[in-house]
Amino acid sequence: MTFPEVRLRRLRRTESLRRLVGETTLAPRQLVLPMFVREGLTQARPIASMPGVLQHSRDSLRKAAAEAVQAGVGGLMLFGVPARRDEAGSGGTDPDGVLNVAIRDVVAEVGDDTVVMGDLCLDEFTSHGHCGVLAPDGSVDNDATLACYAEMARAQAAAGVHLVGTSGMMDGQVGAVRRALDGAGHTGVGILAYAAKYASAFYGPFRDAVESALTGDRRSYQQDPGNAREALREVALDIAEGADIVMVKPALPYLDVIASVASTVDVPVAAYQISGEYSMVEAAVANGWLDRDRAILETLTSIRRAGAQIILTYWAVEAIRLLRASY
Ligand code: PBG
Repeated sequence: MTFPEVRLRRLRRTESLRRLVGETTLAPRQLVLPMFVREGLTQARPIASMPGVLQHSRDSLRKAAAEAVQAGVGGLMLFGVPARRDEAGSGGTDPDGVLNVAIRDVVAEVGDDTVVMGDLCLDEFTSHGHCGVLAPDGSVDNDATLACYAEMARAQAAAGVHLVGTSGMMDGQVGAVRRALDGAGHTGVGILAYAAKYASAFYGPFRDAVESALTGDRRSYQQDPGNAREALREVALDIAEGADIVMVKPALPYLDVIASVASTVDVPVAAYQISGEYSMVEAAVANGWLDRDRAILETLTSIRRAGAQIILTYWAVEAIRLLRASY
């Protein structure tokens, strides 16, 4: 018999005790809301596979962005869905392309009251749906893609973005984008690097959200789900190339990766709770199988506990409402 007797339940007895000893905080400022804007819409429309998430029109995006900022989100990550696509993904680099226009709109609306981010990738804009341009043999051409990303970065920066989110998983993309930004005088625009991004089945609903034309998969550029150590190489390279923040994506199936990245690097670490993570909870809730509020907060708390200090989540505004209600 040991003395004193170990009684861990002592600190779990009341809500106040539990709150006092809680290890993990979740704050509104840590949550970033991804938003979709679709060219040519006159009003927002629902995304079938992501109940509660919308494809916005220009006007509805401005309004929803202002509301999210009012709610207290830490930032907004913008995705553009063009009306037309081509081989080169030129809608992404065109200053009048849907995403660049949306960045200008949102920055005009919210200014520096939040952090406005743009997804820097070609997949929403290419007719084949890949994250880069294709070589004659049909493979994704790494270095030709870097030139497109450089131009896209300059366009987003000119539109007023605070951070560009390099999400294409091309080698050297962070360095190419940093050089492009600096060369154009945009030294103050930062890079949120999707550093460890896995070839995941959980992107399914996103492909619906951006009406992706992809057939096939992204395994020749995104990471193999089984590789954890490789994530540290990706992250180290991105930091060496100038990443200001590194991100792991998806989040919940990769908590071990988030934890090892967070314990290894000294830049802020973000995680992206992606479309499929959102939709699987919403689908279970719709069936009456999960308590929605608790499931949302538990997933976000787990991602924080693993070590991400910033979380991109479609529940950002919802979660802030839940957090405020729980105090
Ligand atoms: C690339 C990009 C993707 C997502 C964010 N940026 C798609 C992909 O890599 O296939 C997925 C986000 C989500 O699933 O919520 N532009």
